[in-house]
Amino acid sequence: MSSDELLTDKWLKKLDRQSQEILDRVVFDRGTFGEVFDRQTILRLGKLISDKIIDQMDFPLSTGKEANLFRATTPEHEFVAMKIYRTSTMTFKHIATYIDGDPRFKSGMKNRRDIIEEWAKKEFKNLEVLRRSKVRVPAPIKRLHNILIMEYIGDANQAAPLLKDVPLKHPQKIYDELMSFIARMYAAQIVHADLSPYNILMFQHKPYIIDVGQAVHLDHPSSQEFLKRDIHNIVQYFTRYDIRGDEQHLYEKLTTKK
Ligand SMILES: Nc1ncnc2c1ncn2[C@@H]1O[C@H](COP(=O)(O)OP(=O)(O)OP(=O)(O)O)[C@@H](O)[C@H]1O
Ligand SMILES: [Mg+2]
Repeated sequence: MSSDELLTDKWLKKLDRQSQEILDRVVFDRGTFGEVFDRQTILRLGKLISDKIIDQMDFPLSTGKEANLFRATTPEHEFVAMKIYRTSTMTFKHIATYIDGDPRFKSGMKNRRDIIEEWAKKEFKNLEVLRRSKVRVPAPIKRLHNILIMEYIGDANQAAPLLKDVPLKHPQKIYDELMSFIARMYAAQIVHADLSPYNILMFQHKPYIIDVGQAVHLDHPSSQEFLKRDIHNIVQYFTRYDIRGDEQHLYEKLTTKK
């Protein structure tokens, strides 16, 4: 059986006892899980458990275009967020746009699994750099191949909602802070490239930037275009609060500053 075969019922029945036990701790819905994750990913979850990085997976937080997110609990009873990139269904075209021209990606990387792994690695790295640059992002905790573990944003009952779903009491404050995050990212030579109210969590009245896998280095040929789009998305969203940002001015201020 090939290692990337999906967890079909037939495959599940053939699992040895140890793997069955791992599954019992990480999987709440075997049907869905089997459709989404391959054998290697399941074994990696087992390794995260035996290495005591996590104790169990709690429930799904989201199913996105290329990754599934779960809340998990550590042996110390802390919550973490797990982002598992699907090795089987990743949309390559989307990813190629960001990887091509990024000097941080090794050239000549063809294998799909390698690319997905590099992608997860890049997201982890971006989280580290951004955190150091005082951009509020979830703290990166651990990466194992296509699995990324980071700080969970939310409380025991629910994950933090997206900016798009939260009415703001002090919109100007949030707007200003987001603009300062864009500036700090830029100073760290990074453009988020998918910044929008869909990739910002609101927790305890503070914005957290998430989903930084596709963020690009300033050397990327489209970085300026991505930056303009990021600024546009935020400015546009805040017009509902009667905040009228001048996109062109914001862009120039950012890019001409030393
Ligand atoms: N650290 C976190 N803490 C709590 N919830 C999170 C965290 N990271 C992500 N989420 C939840 O999971 C969702 C998807 O995360 P993310 O945007 O990183 O993945 P994605 O695969 O790019 O998803 P999409 O394709 O929907 O953009 C988020 O919208 C958010 O609801
Ligand atoms: Mg997202």
